[in-house]
Amino acid sequence: MPNQFADSPTGPAAGVTVAVPAKINLGLAVGPLRPDGFHQLRTLFHAVELCDRVTASASDDLQLQLDGGESGGLSGDAGNLAWRAAALLAEHASRPATVRLSVSKQIPVAAGLAGGSADAAATLLACDRLWQLGLPATELDQLAGRLGSDVAFALHGRSAIGTGRGEQLTDLTDAAQFHWVLAAAAGGLATPAVYAELDRQRAGGDVSAAQLDFEALIAAVRSGDPERLAPLLANDLQPAALALAPELNRTLVAGRELGALAGLVSGSGPTCAFLAADAGQAAGLAAGLQASGSCRFARAVLGGVAGATVLDPGAPKATEGVARGRAAISS
Ligand code: C5P
Repeated sequence: MPNQFADSPTGPAAGVTVAVPAKINLGLAVGPLRPDGFHQLRTLFHAVELCDRVTASASDDLQLQLDGGESGGLSGDAGNLAWRAAALLAEHASRPATVRLSVSKQIPVAAGLAGGSADAAATLLACDRLWQLGLPATELDQLAGRLGSDVAFALHGRSAIGTGRGEQLTDLTDAAQFHWVLAAAAGGLATPAVYAELDRQRAGGDVSAAQLDFEALIAAVRSGDPERLAPLLANDLQPAALALAPELNRTLVAGRELGALAGLVSGSGPTCAFLAADAGQAAGLAAGLQASGSCRFARAVLGGVAGATVLDPGAPKATEGVARGRAAISS
């Protein structure tokens, strides 16, 4: 891989900033609990343009700072997944983990949007550039898979099928984009607690698996037709999330009453995602949900956007090179 920063006055020493999107799951089928404590999954990931930013810059040791509207309650220490990502990459490259990470958080924490996983993915990419390692995308994917089930998808973005525990990805390179509204909840849900609740419900015979037609779902995502996609959205974790946070029922009802084509809990929740016909309807739906008082905030977002992307220090918008290069490798 060419070193794009060589001899540049705005090279790695000045810092590398990566923008990284949140994800929602358009379909999430949860299989049995595996001996390693994870559940076998089949999911259709979809990247949405609610983004965190991670800047990696030169330092004598490993430091992590958090800011942004959604950073409250997070610790900037070795327990943070971004910290662990930098440490893992350094170990893999047999070099010291000398980096100052600055994470600007817009993705709510413990929200079913894989915000922590996104920060870890962005850290892998930013440190790879800062340290001029030039690791191939497949190697970054492997490291991502060791950090968490959703980290690899945050590198890929767009739409992808996840299997295994979620980390084995097949990119849907011809997937379309869709308009969504994300309704953030007042509190968070711990992912392990939601999976444990699903196991409890299943053991008691309380729930049956959501009817998930993956082939139809994939065809709908490729078609770009939101009316076709709407009836196919399904999430096996939704009954468990609703049992732990029953107030989400009110959010889901409000979204449907305001004209959403469909609504579902995102991943393990508690964020709800609503599908809109177009950008105009999404903007109106977000305003209506916000006014309804049934969520902490509601935001219209485009779905099917690029994964972790290095920002050009001279340009206000993300360069597309990283994402395109990755799509070419993985397709
Ligand atoms: O991989 P990640 O760190 O995101 O997983 C967090 C937790 O969610 C796991 O410890 C496990 O309790 C649960 N999980 C699961 N099956 C998966 C993914 C996550 O049970 N496929």
